[in-house]
Amino acid sequence: MTDIKVDLRQVKSFLTDNQLDTYRKKVADTFKTIYSRSGAGNDFLGWVDLPSSITPEFIKDIKTKAEELRRKSEVFVVVGIGGSYLGARAVIEALSNHFSTMVNTGNPVIVYAGHNMSEDYMHDLLKLLDEKDYSMTVISKSGTTTEPAVAFRILKNHIEKKYGKDEARTRIVAITDKAKGALKVLSDSEGYKTYVVPDDVGGRYSVLTPVGLLPIAVAGVDIEKLVAGAQLMEKYCMDNQNDSNVAAQYAVARQALYHNGKATEILVNYEPRLCYFSEWWKQLYGESEGKDGKGIFPASVTFTTDLHSMGQYIQEGVRNLIETVISVENPANEIRIPSDEANLDQMNYIAGRRLNEVNRTAEKATILAHVDGGVPNIRIAVPGIDAKVLGQLIYFFEMGCALSGYMLEVNPFDQPGVEAYKKNMFALLGKPGYEELREKLLKR
Ligand code: PA5
Repeated sequence: MTDIKVDLRQVKSFLTDNQLDTYRKKVADTFKTIYSRSGAGNDFLGWVDLPSSITPEFIKDIKTKAEELRRKSEVFVVVGIGGSYLGARAVIEALSNHFSTMVNTGNPVIVYAGHNMSEDYMHDLLKLLDEKDYSMTVISKSGTTTEPAVAFRILKNHIEKKYGKDEARTRIVAITDKAKGALKVLSDSEGYKTYVVPDDVGGRYSVLTPVGLLPIAVAGVDIEKLVAGAQLMEKYCMDNQNDSNVAAQYAVARQALYHNGKATEILVNYEPRLCYFSEWWKQLYGESEGKDGKGIFPASVTFTTDLHSMGQYIQEGVRNLIETVISVENPANEIRIPSDEANLDQMNYIAGRRLNEVNRTAEKATILAHVDGGVPNIRIAVPGIDAKVLGQLIYFFEMGCALSGYMLEVNPFDQPGVEAYKKNMFALLGKPGYEELREKLLKR
């Protein structure tokens, strides 16, 4: 059984049984489409049995390399963008000390590059790397993405100057296609340790490949537990290809709500450690469903923080919202609110209670207020946040996304729309072969 529970009680008043049934009836066939690999994008279904295909030898190899990098690094740089960065960051931030850049956790501090083009960001990173011992991984499935390629060019230059070419080579790991792309060619010629991104796993589904596993292991997270969680969920989905399946319940609720005017889904957490999990989720769902003029727009908030900024809109703005709460039942630590003799802030009525009780109460109060304000609520409950639960959540959201995308009748595994800005950028930068487009764009 899975640790994930999906609570749809606060969805029901927004939908009739018939509306839910329309999508419930599609579940068995949609599972069949996935497992028989007969749907659109079926050459990108490698994620379906990825967890169970991970061998102990493979985990050992990743852990050995990670340990070697950990020993020589105060800082570890992950160079990548989109699916080649968000999964690792989601897991690392969810399982790290909130102040890991400022306290000694015994782990290297993980920093990121190649996920933006900011000159000031790169400047500050280089200054940091002047002072710290570091190593890095460069991750690009295609091996040709501009942002990580530019960042790696700069960082390769820096690391080779700092350590010399031979030592630098031992501090760089490339994760890319098995045969093609500029990064593969470069890695082979430089002799970098390389890991392969499988052909049949798209970027946003790649967190359980070396793309995610290597940086996550360098950060000190137990990747065996993460993979075990995903394996558990993989088996659960395989064994429960019906509408009682939690991933199917989530997909059904989303599609029923979308077809009843709810076009924006806000993923809500009450644990700031989940901020980047939401960023990963936004890419997964946005890139998978947002096409052919269709799809729910994925957004995210961290409560109670954002109740003081976005709460007004959610309560009373345009009524096209869905809230999906990742509800974490037990934090890892316990803090009680102290009593205060003067009680000037009038908080003594909650003295002695756990902070988590207040957090959980805020969650319940907010769900009910937002439901009363016209925002249906899907509650995804987990007992706590650890590597095993995260592994389950990753697979849960991946399967939920594939089911939901197929129910929406889109190809959940392509992303043709991301090319448009790239072509314009290449043309405006003067890349050979883009002269005609450049002329057109300069006239606008
Ligand atoms: O999901 C995707 O395919 C994208 O987000 C890619 O992961 C992202 O564009 C990076 O691509 P690449 O790994 O080829 O550099």
